[in-house]
Amino acid sequence: MRKIVVAIDGYSACGKSTTAKETARILGYRYIDSGAMYRAMTLYFLDHHIAITNPKDIARALEKVRITFQVNSAGATITFLNGVNVEREIREMRISEFVSQVSTIQAVRHAMVDQQRRMGKERAIVMDGRDIGTVVFPQAELKLFMSADILVRAFRRQKELLSRDEMVDVDTIVENLLKRDKIDSTRKESPLRKAVDAIEIDTTHITIEEQVDEVVRLALTRMVKAGK
Ligand code: DC
Repeated sequence: MRKIVVAIDGYSACGKSTTAKETARILGYRYIDSGAMYRAMTLYFLDHHIAITNPKDIARALEKVRITFQVNSAGATITFLNGVNVEREIREMRISEFVSQVSTIQAVRHAMVDQQRRMGKERAIVMDGRDIGTVVFPQAELKLFMSADILVRAFRRQKELLSRDEMVDVDTIVENLLKRDKIDSTRKESPLRKAVDAIEIDTTHITIEEQVDEVVRLALTRMVKAGK
């Protein structure tokens, strides 16, 4: 079977990354969390007090930042920023609160998209994000667009934060998700959009297992088709 690119886009906390990770594991593909790259960049900007309104500072920061991924012994993908494991830190609310602003910066997007395309050169990847099917891999063999009810998303995100010992009330999470949805889908540079050829999956009433089954089934069909 031919190796394909699976592009998963959609709103935050719809189960994109859980589905992408598990699909990649089943297919024996590489999983790339593009949101983690924007989060790592945000962490760098915050820690180094970079004014995101100053193009020169942004350009200098982009030269200094190296974002890499490693798979640990438990099979989890870990994000590294200049060689330091930042996987935990980039999921904190202080990053979620600022990441959408950072993601609007054209120079940041160009640098991230270049790296994402290099990582996808060998194909056999599942990448999730906001612009994967529209901008990063417009030729991806399988494109999915995920959505879910806002409260379901907020409760899922709260559970995830709790598992990292961060207690945030649901209202604050709803506010953050809606604010990010708005910034992500109205920004000038590669806004969050469903690609015309993407398959829409509403995850409100389905379990992660059902989501994964469906995505794996679709991927296998596309792999067979791509090989013909
Ligand atoms: O998937 P996530 O919630 O970890 O992503 C964090 C932010 O990064 C999200 O609010 C928008 C931005 N992002 C983006 O602009 N483009 C991507 N391909 C992935 C994420």
